[in-house]
Amino acid sequence: MAQSNASARSELQGLFAPRAVAVIGASRQEGKIGHSILKNMLGSGYRGTIYPINPREEAILGLRAYPSLSKVPEPVDLAVIAVPAAAVAGVVEECGLVGVRYLVVITAGYKEVGHEGLVREKELLAAVRRHGMRMLGPNCLGLMDTHTPINASFAAGFPLKGEIAFLSQSGAVCAAILDWSLQVGLGFSKFVSLGNKADLTEVDFIRNAALDAYSKVILCYIEDVVDGEAFLETVREVGTKTPVVILKAGSSQAGARAASSHTGALAGSDLAYEVAFDQAGVLRARTMEELFDLAMAFTTQPLPAGDRVGIVTNSGGPGIIATDAVEARGLRMAELGRETVEALRKGLPPTASFYNPVDVIGDADDKRYDFALSHVLADPGVDSVLCLLTRPAGIDPVLVARAIVARRREYPDKPVVAAFLGGENVAEAARELAAGGVPCFSFPERAVTALSGLARYRRFRERDDTATRPVAFPDVDRETAAEAIASARRDRRVVLLSDECAALMRAYGVPVVPSGLARGPEEAVALADGLGYPVALKVVSPQILHKTDFGGVRLGLESRKDVMRAFFEIVENTQRYLPHAAIHGIEVQKMMAPGIELIVGVSRDIHFGPLLMFGLGGIYVNLFRDVSFRLARGIVWSELEAMVAQTRAYALLKGYRGRRPADVDAVIDTLGRVATLVNDFPEIAELDVNPLFAYERGEGVCALDVKITLSENARQK
Ligand code: COA
Repeated sequence: MAQSNASARSELQGLFAPRAVAVIGASRQEGKIGHSILKNMLGSGYRGTIYPINPREEAILGLRAYPSLSKVPEPVDLAVIAVPAAAVAGVVEECGLVGVRYLVVITAGYKEVGHEGLVREKELLAAVRRHGMRMLGPNCLGLMDTHTPINASFAAGFPLKGEIAFLSQSGAVCAAILDWSLQVGLGFSKFVSLGNKADLTEVDFIRNAALDAYSKVILCYIEDVVDGEAFLETVREVGTKTPVVILKAGSSQAGARAASSHTGALAGSDLAYEVAFDQAGVLRARTMEELFDLAMAFTTQPLPAGDRVGIVTNSGGPGIIATDAVEARGLRMAELGRETVEALRKGLPPTASFYNPVDVIGDADDKRYDFALSHVLADPGVDSVLCLLTRPAGIDPVLVARAIVARRREYPDKPVVAAFLGGENVAEAARELAAGGVPCFSFPERAVTALSGLARYRRFRERDDTATRPVAFPDVDRETAAEAIASARRDRRVVLLSDECAALMRAYGVPVVPSGLARGPEEAVALADGLGYPVALKVVSPQILHKTDFGGVRLGLESRKDVMRAFFEIVENTQRYLPHAAIHGIEVQKMMAPGIELIVGVSRDIHFGPLLMFGLGGIYVNLFRDVSFRLARGIVWSELEAMVAQTRAYALLKGYRGRRPADVDAVIDTLGRVATLVNDFPEIAELDVNPLFAYERGEGVCALDVKITLSENARQK
């Protein structure tokens, strides 16, 4: 990975810092995109050479223009293309021939407009690859780098210099954020409009930004990811050094539809994104506001040592709101030390509150704020501090802001954020705070969200490496499992029969209920004798998934006579209700002692692969929805443990109300084995073990019912 990172930097170096740039489709005509790009390039302070390319013009904006790239006197690293879609192919070909290395294709009319556009995009990509070039876009606003500096875009403005690398799949979001950032004074290192991501994707730019000394945080607005596996690998690695904050749009059903019509993005299921982000340490912002609130926190604050927040406020209400937010966002209110409380009691008016939140009351001036803040910051039980202010008459909030800025400098290891409530009255103070490196928010909840983002990221960074041991089982029998799948394929079935499911489970070391397949009543009796009574009989037919509904199952059979009778009844019921169903036989199962009913399931996500589910099983799965999810790919032991621990079923497993604890280790082992199975066999589309009985500690687990479905294309294989 280290090697590929290094190459990612050198690979995109020429894109962000080219020595010479051609603007193809540069125009004299104001208002045209080709005009704006050239103007932006000139205005950005770019130090390399700029070559406007236009078939008719001699000069544009004071620069000599060339009729085509082939007439340009020196090699060009980057070509920004803003000619109509019909002309792009010819231009790209010429770029390839003269040795251009990077393209920014602004032109729209590709996959976002439907099938014809998709074909055009594929041809464009093929040409780019044929010539060994790399391309941003098509259908993008362009890119900017404030440190090079370069503005290869048609955006209305250039960001302030800063430490946020921002990537966006939507050009409109780019434009809006840029405008807003100029108003609020937020700076960027890189600003990239990803467009259709035909070649370079978020993965390339995240990798690149992580290596950039100027980028302290990576912010993304995305509607989908192109390659889930590469994305996860990259953010996992990058996230250990640089925080990655993502606003993933399309989480609602309606949002997902809008996303696919917008850039042709195939929005994956939101749940898979949620799980993937969590496992990879990505901070997911729910709103654009949160995205930038987190960015402000990460670019100005250190990471807190823990989750304990101290609050200094001059009014009760906002203090309570902030306290609620602290709890709601996974942080804790710090318990101030005795010395701190005593010092506050001595220095603050008697009506103040000396406990957290520390209320310095309404008439507090900058000196009183400073006094309280100095003690709260000095308390070793406080990991981060929130300063709240509502402006009462006669107090100058700017002076309070200055006091906060000055005091926090003494504690460079503790994050300090502020929420000054109000509008005009506190605007100057908020600017003063921001300039002094203390982000100031207009509401307490936003400030707490920012603090919680810092704490969440610290937790991810400090994950125990020994717990991230990959899940692996040397004892699995791949051949037997492959044979069970092959047998279904031979029959052109996607639903595995129960004996095939059992074979797969056994091959992967998951205990299944002892059973056998009987073709006739005598065979059923012989099997029952072997298994020991009582037994259960179940019809096995590729046409039947829900056997109980029509009498295809008989439970609790105690004797040979019972088994004989049940066999005939099941065959008769099946023939009567489903005359066309082929009966493969009748499964004879040992009746198991009841255990805690659990479910282990797998579904497959188009971006991130198999999604493993665990929870309370049995017939109430849908009612209680007590389930947790993880991506099976690359899963580690600590994640398996966590997915069990986060369900309510865990309380049962630990021994609820005096019951003996269940075999949690065996449950975790089973989850790992199922994850390994679906990782090894991508053709398994869905899998359900329900119920999985968990017995007392040391007694293991047992899969009672297993359903496995192969993907449709397995039929053809
Ligand atoms: N080489 C060099 N210049 C060429 C050319 C070629 N092969 N073909 C055309 N040009 C020149 C034209 O002569 C024109 O210059 P002029 O104004 O001096 O005549 C310039 O390129 C632009 O061509 P024009 O036909 O005027 O197109 P346009 O400016 O109206 O539109 C695009 C071009 C690329 C802007 C337009 O097709 C487009 O895709 N717009 C949408 C862009 C967008 O929204 N992107 C996504 C943002 S998120």
